[in-house]
Amino acid sequence: MSNQYIEAFVEDKIGVIQLNRPEVLNALNRQMVDEIVEKLEQYDESEDVRVMMIKGNDKAFAAGADIEEMMDETPLTMELADPFAVWDHITLINKPIIASVNGVALGGGFELALHCDLIVAGESSKFGFPEVQLGVMPGAGGTQLLTKAIGERKALEWIWLGEQMEAREALKLGAINRVVADELVFEESFRLAKQLANQAPISIRLIKESVKAAKDMTLMDGMNLERKNFYLTFASEDQKEGMKAFTEKRSPSFKGV
Ligand code: HXC
Repeated sequence: MSNQYIEAFVEDKIGVIQLNRPEVLNALNRQMVDEIVEKLEQYDESEDVRVMMIKGNDKAFAAGADIEEMMDETPLTMELADPFAVWDHITLINKPIIASVNGVALGGGFELALHCDLIVAGESSKFGFPEVQLGVMPGAGGTQLLTKAIGERKALEWIWLGEQMEAREALKLGAINRVVADELVFEESFRLAKQLANQAPISIRLIKESVKAAKDMTLMDGMNLERKNFYLTFASEDQKEGMKAFTEKRSPSFKGV
């Protein structure tokens, strides 16, 4: 698929996806979501990429699903096309994904950020679920991902009221990871991505699997998965390199094998 609504490039093992529909504040139409998912899957497979980033522009990460595209749908056309099912593919991505947010992240735009593992935001960025004001509700994981991130009470209040929340408030609730000056968002996201890209990729991958599993597993099942993943790291050359580098008092160089 050639990309109409995103741009993508790889630098220093960071695979960047830039949302590129500025005339409608990066409103997510179906093709754009398909392009994002396809690129994430390519990056997940690529040996040149260790960490992924999704960014918008100065005004918008994304202002939600494309309302014009959606407005004449019926329950049956939605059910048959099941347009939001493709979002599940993002949940299956193994490498870290960082959302780099300036401007608004609303509705589906906030859901896209919540599908990422870490969210870095500009101080004047705003987050929220305005769907209730359109007579609908979040449909690409918002009620689930936000609730798992910040708990039922705050999630209900936020989604029911449909209000935009300032980045610092979102940070206090634990909905996002870092707030920095607007002009430093990409730089800070990239710095964080590089830090992750320099870690042992197999550890990073197994940590993601184990942490994500904590939400759905019993404590004993989760502990068991963690333990097996710990043992599995000893199959890697990077475990040998990491421990050898420690004893030799030097920085490790990880290869991802
Ligand atoms: C289609 C959109 C859009 C959207 C903005 N635009 N958001 N088009 N779908 N979600 C378009 C506007 O129509 C306008 O086009 C242009 O982008 C600029 O927007 P303005 O409204 O003029 O900008 P501003 O006054 O700065 O207001 C910014 C805004 C507002 C507060 C973000 O645009 C807004 O409320 N947008 C809708 C946000 C929303 O409700 N999102 C949830 C969507 S439902 P023109 O042609 O007039 O210049 C959803 C469900 C998710 O996300 C389901 C799972 C995926």
